Order: sequence, then structure tokens, then C-alpha cells
Amino acid sequence: MDYTEIAPIMARLWSPLAAVTSHWQGQDNVQIAVAIAAASIVPDRPRVVVQLYKTNHSHNMVLSGGAFALNFLKPDQTNLIGDFGLVSGRDQEKLAEFDTRPGESGSPILSNCYGYLDCLVVNAMDGGDMTCFLADVIGGKTLAEGEPLWWRDARHELPQEWLERWENKQSSEVATSRANMDQISYTSWQPPK
Ligand SMILES: Cc1cc2nc3c(=O)[nH]c(=O)nc-3n(C[C@H](O)[C@H](O)[C@H](O)COP(=O)(O)O)c2cc1C
Repeated sequence: MDYTEIAPIMARLWSPLAAVTSHWQGQDNVQIAVAIAAASIVPDRPRVVVQLYKTNHSHNMVLSGGAFALNFLKPDQTNLIGDFGLVSGRDQEKLAEFDTRPGESGSPILSNCYGYLDCLVVNAMDGGDMTCFLADVIGGKTLAEGEPLWWRDARHELPQEWLERWENKQSSEVATSRANMDQISYTSWQPPK
């Protein structure tokens, strides 16, 4: 198969950029994600699916805490891609300088963003290198007009140094994913008691 022939389709499946926040054992954290989709056709029972990679600190926080919030970015927030998506909460308190409040799920909500969805996990599927979380949206609001920020636009605006850091991080993540993506556990997720 020639993978370049499906690249235009695959690239269009990524969502707008979101800052995925979580709270677990007294720590607030945030990461960037674009692997997000709507997962309910019932307007008053909204759900989302979010894929989080196991190498991320946020992955363990969401898996243990069973909650997260999706804070979609505005077009003038490309700086948050580096602050949240190129460093880990294992090494840094990424939200210390930001204005947040706890959502109903306990996850931090960013005051300044395109809009947010506050979510509680209802199921999780192991993908080997990542976990696919299905979650109920229990709160949220659109805070800005127009379009949110998309990676395909944002990447052209990033400083060269950030792009290089992203490429390096990405190639190491791809190698880890390639090694682990077939190591799937078929034990089903259990809701926390
Ligand atoms: C543009 C962009 C998109 C990303 N998309 C995802 C994603 O969909 N899922 C994911 O788990 N990580 C994604 N990441 C990677 C995490 O944001 C990154 O590894 C982060 O440093 C993890 O932080 P943490 O260790 O504090 O959780 C993305 C990063 C960038 C820059």
C-alpha cells in the first residue's frame, strides 16, 4: 500500500487543537491533543472519544482519575502548543501561570480558550500505544466566535525551534508506538467503585 495516497484523508481526521486538562492526587496537568471526535447522536447526552498516548503523564492521570476537560484553543493561542504539548507535567507545573477554575469533573477549565467540554470517562479501550477514552460531556460552553485553532494552520506559525523540537519528539513517539501498538490488552475497563 502507498501510504501517501491516503495522507490527505488521514490528515483531515484530526480535530481542532485542544488543551486536555486533568486533576489527580492534588496535581493539575495539561497536554495538547488532536485525536478527539464526537461520540453521541443524542443532543442532550453528548459524548466524546479522546485518544491519549501512554507515554504522556496525562494518560495516567485520566486513567486513574476518570475525568478530563477539553479546552479548545483560539487562533491566537499557538504559543500554548509549545507550553503544553512539548513538555511533560512530570517535569513541570504547566498550568501554574494560567487562570483556571475546577470544573464539575475536578479538571481545570482554562478561562481563556475557544470553549471547553468538561468530561467524565465511561469506558476505555486499550490500543497498545494509547488508550481511547469514551466520556460523557457533563458541562461546557463556547466562549469565542469564529473557528478554533487547527494544527494544519498552526504548524505554519510555529517558531522553527519549536517545529524542530516537535519533529524530534514525534519521531521518538512514533518509534515507541510502532513497538507497542500490537501489545493490546483485551481485559475490559472497569468503572471506579
Ligand atoms: C500538535 C500536537 C498534537 C498532539 N496530539 C496528541 C493527541 O492527540 N494525543 C496525545 O496523547 N498526545 C498528543 N500530543 C502530545 C502531547 O501533547 C505531549 O506529549 C505532551 O507533552 C504530554 O504532556 P504530559 O506528559 O504532561 O501529559 C500532541 C502534541 C502536539 C504538539
